[in-house]
Amino acid sequence: MSDEEIRVGVFVCDCGSNIAAFVNVPEVVEYSKGLKNVVFADEGKWSCSVDALASMQESIKEHNLNRVVIASCTPRTHEPVFKATVKEAGLNPYLLEFVSIREQVSWVHMKEPEAATEKAKDLVKMGVAKAILLEEGEEIRLPVGTDCMIIGGGLAGMTAALNIAEQGFNAYIVEKQPKLGGILNRVSNVSHDHIDMPAADIVKAKTDLIEANPNITAYTSTEIESVNGYIGNYKVVLNSNGETVNLDISTVIVATGMREIEPEGMFQYGNDPRVVTQLQLEERLRNSEFGIRNSESEIKNVVIINCVGSKNEERGCCAIGCPVSVKNALAIKKVNKDINVHILYRDLSMVKDEQIHLQAAKAAGVKFLRFPDDRYPEVTKEDGNLSVSVNDLLLGSEYKLRPDLLVLTVGFTGDETIDAIRGHLKISTNKEGFFQERHIKLGPLDFPADGVALCGCAKNPKTLKETCEEGIGAAMRAAIPMKNGFIEAEGIVADIDLTNCDSCSICWKRCPYGAIKVNENKEPEVIKALCKGCGLCAADCPKECITIVHYSDEQLLAQVEAALEENPEKKILGFVCHWCALGGVDMAGVSRLQYPPNGRLIRVMCSARVPTKLIERAYELGAAGVLVAGCEFPTCHYITGNYACESRIKRAKKRLAKKGYNADNLWLTWCSAADGPKFANVMRDMVKELGLG
Ligand code: FES
Repeated sequence: MSDEEIRVGVFVCDCGSNIAAFVNVPEVVEYSKGLKNVVFADEGKWSCSVDALASMQESIKEHNLNRVVIASCTPRTHEPVFKATVKEAGLNPYLLEFVSIREQVSWVHMKEPEAATEKAKDLVKMGVAKAILLEEGEEIRLPVGTDCMIIGGGLAGMTAALNIAEQGFNAYIVEKQPKLGGILNRVSNVSHDHIDMPAADIVKAKTDLIEANPNITAYTSTEIESVNGYIGNYKVVLNSNGETVNLDISTVIVATGMREIEPEGMFQYGNDPRVVTQLQLEERLRNSEFGIRNSESEIKNVVIINCVGSKNEERGCCAIGCPVSVKNALAIKKVNKDINVHILYRDLSMVKDEQIHLQAAKAAGVKFLRFPDDRYPEVTKEDGNLSVSVNDLLLGSEYKLRPDLLVLTVGFTGDETIDAIRGHLKISTNKEGFFQERHIKLGPLDFPADGVALCGCAKNPKTLKETCEEGIGAAMRAAIPMKNGFIEAEGIVADIDLTNCDSCSICWKRCPYGAIKVNENKEPEVIKALCKGCGLCAADCPKECITIVHYSDEQLLAQVEAALEENPEKKILGFVCHWCALGGVDMAGVSRLQYPPNGRLIRVMCSARVPTKLIERAYELGAAGVLVAGCEFPTCHYITGNYACESRIKRAKKRLAKKGYNADNLWLTWCSAADGPKFANVMRDMVKELGLG
């Protein structure tokens, strides 16, 4: 660090009354003025307003500030705004530290204003302690060319490729099947609003456009063998019909689609050929095999059961089952209006446009029976015939139906190539087997890996219209760096000091991105363009040779010590990952869930960043408990970070126990960004178990 005098400015936001109604902001400002190196502190009504940002820039210049601490809402939404503001004022944006006193304080301790104010002061103190040690960082500028690979030639991939090509870039579609079209090649017709058309017509129209576009190359019957590199510099090897194809590309769009989950063993599926899934029904309708009179028998009665294997504790709503069941019931009626069709449903989720089809189905004579959530229909075989018993919730009656065809509306999961693609591109998936976007609101079509966009049913099941919209959206995301000709990647990366390094190999073997390579001297080197700054290597390095920009050991340690300077026996020191765990913390705040104010949270990019020595230091300083919180398995935004964290915590517990500490006071939790209640409960449980409340 240079000899330059450290001059910290603290800006505390009222957020209207969101913060000021529950935290004594003037008191926090006065407290800040007494902290080491703080030369300026101010209260702002709305710190993110245009006027307040301009005034912040003036203050930075007027008071010659070289570190800035913002105490306001969550960094997950507002950090970029403040980073840009300090940058415009001539300050390196890595010299900014962000403290969340709204989601972590005012919104969750509304009935305890004094404790909330004390907690806000602590968080500001922790922020200032870190800010003093911050060092300048820099974005990494990488050149980006104009070639984009689209993985998946279904509707989303075709739409994305056309959009990429229309912008003058080159699109390379990689499709494992012999023809383009994806899941639509199995679907009979698609309906939207008043439009009802054969799926084959849509595929043909898109395929014709693709074949006519000189900027698009489509590789069918093609699999990806390997992908190496990073945005602007991907080297891809394909196996195309047995031939090797090498591609140099700059960006990637993942559009691998989805597949039905086989309901093996459910409702006689697999035991009786008369039990089929919606897609199997679609294929029969599409190929005119759905028979009024076929060689086997005449179909007079069709029963459809919705929510098969969905909307339960393992999986959420399948998202498209209800409209698909209604669409296909209508299609059956179009084949033969005399066929009896019953839809057995739990809850019909139909958006406005789909109501037209619902009304049409009712008018065509389709019968709807609503069964209770906890009492699914029972399917048995009687004298060789299928028999369905169902309790109709609305009429309170039991029905027995005898279908000639039983159709199961099952849920979906990602394509079978998802694990291979995840490995090739170092991207994350979720527990339902789909790809996981960077952020549900702030990066819905992105991955944390720059230059890789996501669209369509590879993310979750969706309608035709939504699929096309996402295809266009992903193409726009991929096109931005291709149009600019470069990208500036985040400068939160690893840095290795080789002085004490003995080339033990842990860092390069454990890096989830393969971002650490060994040079000819057997020394590790960070490829900054590949490094995502998760911090796994730094936390595991036995010689402590690795620093993560903006999350160095010293900076995190300063936060730990500041948090536990006073009354450590009443405090829970928490390390939360920036993605899901902090998302859960924020969700608890947004939902105004009230929990005890004992927590003092430190943000890290991934739970993998938390080294054992920091946990031990918290124990040494007398913390009542330590919490490490990360994303649920397998949703870590750094692929395997939470697995590394879990095994490190096990080792840490053993070490703590050996040193005579109570290892049970170290808690580990995984939560989703939507799981505010879980985080609030963990805080309540910890306070109770640790005897703090
Ligand atoms: Fe949340 Fe890795 S990013 S645990």
